[in-house]
Amino acid sequence: MKKIIVAIDGHSSCGKSTMAKALARKVGYIYVDTGAMYRAVALFALRHGLLLPDGSVDAAALEVRMPEVEISFRLDPETGLPQTCLCGEVVEQDIRTLEVSSLVSPVAALPFVRQALTRQQQRMGDEKGIVMDGRDIGTAVFPNAELKIFVTASAEVRAQRRYDELRRKGQDVDFAAILRNVEERDYIDSHRELNPLRQAPDALVLDNSHMSIAEQDAWLMQHFEARTR
Ligand code: DC
Repeated sequence: MKKIIVAIDGHSSCGKSTMAKALARKVGYIYVDTGAMYRAVALFALRHGLLLPDGSVDAAALEVRMPEVEISFRLDPETGLPQTCLCGEVVEQDIRTLEVSSLVSPVAALPFVRQALTRQQQRMGDEKGIVMDGRDIGTAVFPNAELKIFVTASAEVRAQRRYDELRRKGQDVDFAAILRNVEERDYIDSHRELNPLRQAPDALVLDNSHMSIAEQDAWLMQHFEARTR
């Protein structure tokens, strides 16, 4: 069977990574969560205090330190799932906090951050056989990907999913704050100058507001099989 690139883009918290991970596992492809890479840069800024007095990111200071930001993935021996590493340390939990979520969209809008991460992502796809999810995979990272999916769901449904996920992990979170964060990130991600979130003209659209995980996995598998036949 020929190897392809699967690009999955869409709004935040709409289940892109759940479906991307499931497909990669089923067909033996590498899965790359590009949101995790942007989150790792935001975590780096937080940990090194690269912030302005108003709490926003100090872009000039981050640009100077950017060569130190080393992002990689390693497989968790127990779950077999990839874990994000920042400078060699596993930061999978630390990049999912609301603090990082609040900082990540402005960080992801910085051109020097996007250029560095886009180059790294393109290298990861050199051999194909990859499922990558993010905001600009089908439009900027792999405009020639053989299968492009654009996923969406209502903001309330997405906020509820993130709320449930964080509660399951034992975090004390507030639904209204999460909904606000989802809406703010949608706005910043879609309005930034460089590679904003938008649907590639040749992407297949999936609104999964009222779909189960099993239904969306089956939908994706059907399209994957059609493209690799
Ligand atoms: O998918 P996520 O919520 O983990 O993504 C975190 C942030 O990173 C999100 O606000 C948008 C940004 N992002 C991006 O700009 N481009 C990507 N390819 C992936 C994520």
